[in-house]
Amino acid sequence: MQVALKIWRFDAVAGERKLVDYEIDAPEWVTLLDVLDLIKDQVDGTLAYRKSCRMMICGSCGMRMDGAAVLACKIRMYDIAQSGHIPVISAMGNMPIVKDLVTDMQPFWGKIRAMSPWLQPGYQDPGEKEFVVSEEQMDTIHKESLCIMCGCCVSECNSMESDPEFLGPAALAKGMRFVGDVRDHATVERLQEYSGQHGIWDCTRCYFCQERCPKGVDPRDAIAKLGAEAMKEGIDSDMGAKHAKWFVTSSKTTGWLRETELVPKTQGVARSLKEVKFAMGLLKHGKVPPPIPPHVAKDVDEARALFDLVSQQGRGGAAGIVQGEHALERLEFEQGGNPDRDPFGEGSFPEPFLPGQGEGEEEAES
Ligand code: SF4
Ligand code: SF4
Ligand code: FES
Repeated sequence: MQVALKIWRFDAVAGERKLVDYEIDAPEWVTLLDVLDLIKDQVDGTLAYRKSCRMMICGSCGMRMDGAAVLACKIRMYDIAQSGHIPVISAMGNMPIVKDLVTDMQPFWGKIRAMSPWLQPGYQDPGEKEFVVSEEQMDTIHKESLCIMCGCCVSECNSMESDPEFLGPAALAKGMRFVGDVRDHATVERLQEYSGQHGIWDCTRCYFCQERCPKGVDPRDAIAKLGAEAMKEGIDSDMGAKHAKWFVTSSKTTGWLRETELVPKTQGVARSLKEVKFAMGLLKHGKVPPPIPPHVAKDVDEARALFDLVSQQGRGGAAGIVQGEHALERLEFEQGGNPDRDPFGEGSFPEPFLPGQGEGEEEAES
């Protein structure tokens, strides 16, 4: 089949960038990475990109296709070529470009290192004792452990675009991988560290990282878990944590979000005074309800019952974060969208982790 691509070439020495058209004859089974190999082999040997495993394991081949980060070795070209679409290929975002599709990963690795990505068991010598970790305990960090450090999430991160020092989705997911590990004894220190400036609470919750992660790590879920764990440990001095805390208090006490009090509860009274003029304007135009008496929802007992249920189930911290739906949707879409192109037969894609999925089904059947 004929496969056409447009590739943003970049020469860092000359500082020149140009969009170049390529068209090549390729077998029907090719991936985007295979097409790049063919172009490099047959058309232009100077084309630069990274690759190694060719099977979605090493994380080397992150790049953008039509503006969205992908692993080149994961993208099958058959449907794209048949549709007549000509995709635009470019280097990942939020990282300096070295040449063509190759980015400088130093900032990425610097942030991974900043998470102290190794177990800190709290002892020098384990002695004779064997520490057995159950499958259930490891389930908490199952998704985070799938990360291949490709950088696709970082490429798409909105927060990092405005604040390059933001730790970012990959590093924070790595942090959760250790915070959630029962063998690690540096949980509080880690959470304090990750909750600082440029940390957990600087995420804008845009979910782009979750959308683009090719391995189902769902980094935004990991960040939510870190936030919940930090609050469980009482590490809540950041404005983001205070904001989240007020959502909880407000919905528990009144079944309603009391927005009028959100600003003073988040920013403190002194800083909120600067916003009084703005608040008065909103009040005048009927945009905020009067704070006194607070509006209480008619069915507030239902909201309170929900809190009691979560508490009875012991779902504080990370255990209260529902995870897995995004990965599930993505895998279902891929299976449903290309049922005949699954190389190992129907159902051979791995199922993402859903907490309690198996147990729930068994209970329901019994
Ligand atoms: S979280 Fe996903 S997108 Fe981000 S580096 Fe890891 S595997 Fe890649
Ligand atoms: S959800 Fe947060 S970490 Fe993920 S891309 Fe958006 S801002 Fe970045
Ligand atoms: S070449 Fe290793 S992940 Fe694509």
